[in-house]
Amino acid sequence: MSTNAGASIRPIAIIGGTGPAGLGLGLRWARAGETIIIGSRDKSRAQKAAAAIQQRVAGCNISGMENSEACAAADILMLTVPFDGQAALLKHLKPAIVPGSILIDATVPLAAAVGGRASRPLGVWQGSAAQQAAELAPQEVSVVAAFHNISADLLQGDAPLDCDVIVCSDDPDAAQLTRELAGKIPGVRAIDGGKLENARIVEQITALLIGLNIRHKGHAGIRITGLPPAAYR
Ligand SMILES: NC(=O)c1ccc[n+]([C@@H]2O[C@H](COP(=O)([O-])OP(=O)(O)OC[C@H]3O[C@@H](n4cnc5c(N)ncnc54)[C@H](OP(=O)(O)O)[C@@H]3O)[C@@H](O)[C@H]2O)c1
Repeated sequence: MSTNAGASIRPIAIIGGTGPAGLGLGLRWARAGETIIIGSRDKSRAQKAAAAIQQRVAGCNISGMENSEACAAADILMLTVPFDGQAALLKHLKPAIVPGSILIDATVPLAAAVGGRASRPLGVWQGSAAQQAAELAPQEVSVVAAFHNISADLLQGDAPLDCDVIVCSDDPDAAQLTRELAGKIPGVRAIDGGKLENARIVEQITALLIGLNIRHKGHAGIRITGLPPAAYR
């Protein structure tokens, strides 16, 4: 698989791409010249979402497919589904995932998944939603945790973001590709967050951000300060 993030012809399949997070990432990457497949459980919903992005980004390369079809057509998968659907969906998609793919997981395990508050994180047996994804994905797939702390509302807008994206993975090449993709979103700096096990901490920050959004009525993100310039790539 190519890890050249400049090669816009290799598609990024956004699984669960019809929700705010997937739509926002799809919009930003379509603007950056990436080839995007919006995935959904329902093909027509995916095609409608893709058409909505196409209307905003003239000439972009975007299509809509059912999630399995989207997995089979790409080797970069961006997973943007609620935690309560993540495990079952990955089990369902496993046969369709191309060996050697990169799976970027943005799932945040929130207590809302079990009837609790969205501002409270949920404990996950494996340590994090991303580690659960790694357990459920085919062995030859590299899992990366990223994009948890970025506002989907702001991603769906036109203004540059004011946010850092912490990228965690046990595969340095997959992490680098993901940082390159994050860097294609205006205003975003990507930071190497170390091993996948650190996803537990990054995911939990989102529960805090949701609480801050409720309290202050905003769209909170994060900025990490004090690192040398080379850390922000
Ligand atoms: N919203 C944010 O600001 C934000 C920011 C960072 C990270 N995140 C995380 O990113 C993920 C997606 O966020 P979101 O706000 O876009 O979520 P969402 O709107 O609740 O769901 C995204 C899409 O996932 C699919 N989906 C829903 N339930 C599913 C299930 N049980 N099984 C399979 N697919 C299902 C739906 O697509 P179809 O019905 O078309 O299949 C839906 O449009 C979440 O884990 C969230 O915590 C969100």
